[in-house]
Amino acid sequence: MNILKLPERKAGHEKIVMVTCYDYTSARIIGQSDVDMILVGDSAAMVMHGFETTLPIDTAMMAHHVAAVRRGAPGKFIVADLPFLSYRKSLSETMQAVAELMRAGAQAVKLEGIAGNEETIRHIVQSGVPVMGHVGLTPQSVHQLGGFHVQGSSQPDRTRLKADALDCQRAGCFALVLECVPESLAAEITAALTIPTIGIGAGADTDGQVLVMHDLLGLNPDFKPKFVRRYLDGNQQWLDAFNQYAHDVREGSFPAREERYAG
Ligand code: KIV
Repeated sequence: MNILKLPERKAGHEKIVMVTCYDYTSARIIGQSDVDMILVGDSAAMVMHGFETTLPIDTAMMAHHVAAVRRGAPGKFIVADLPFLSYRKSLSETMQAVAELMRAGAQAVKLEGIAGNEETIRHIVQSGVPVMGHVGLTPQSVHQLGGFHVQGSSQPDRTRLKADALDCQRAGCFALVLECVPESLAAEITAALTIPTIGIGAGADTDGQVLVMHDLLGLNPDFKPKFVRRYLDGNQQWLDAFNQYAHDVREGSFPAREERYAG
């Protein structure tokens, strides 16, 4: 996947497929798949570390995840999330965070929101690092948004989100994540932009889709928002495997003769 091909993909209505990933073993499998790009999202804080929001993860933790994913999927385009406040302190600290993620193996960074980030995005892009924008539900602002819920339901919010999307493009973003917005708004934004949109909970009219790996693998039975499709009942399948293992050890059928070293 080469980001210079993205405008062609958008023009040709060839959907872009992105999935999150945070570890080496999963990345090895995704690396063999038809998925176009990997997002090492700060959702790692929630699905890998068990936090309730994305806020606790920092740049060093993100860099470890990026490096593991890069080792597992050397051929995939990797976008890494700049974590909470890492791009809101000073330009110098922002660029240190960008450098850390890029040196760990990312090929682009993603940051949330546009208000106050325009100059930062321009500077990162002018430094040779592609930036993916992210508008709509921006989880790093969860406390300001009053929870994780659909954005852009009122007309003023729709107008603001569309303006935000255009501002991301103007600032130099190469693509834009639209999270949890009404399908009609995502379609309107997608038509208005020359850069591709990648939706999550944004309907079918975006130029691509992204899902959190653990959601599409059905690894968390307690989390099933409307927009998630489970391609595996991972929770049940893993549980069955662990229980079968416990059963086999207890009844003495594991290890079998061929699973033992003779001599
Ligand atoms: O961190 C993440 O996984 C994300 C996606 C939800 C787009 O930002």
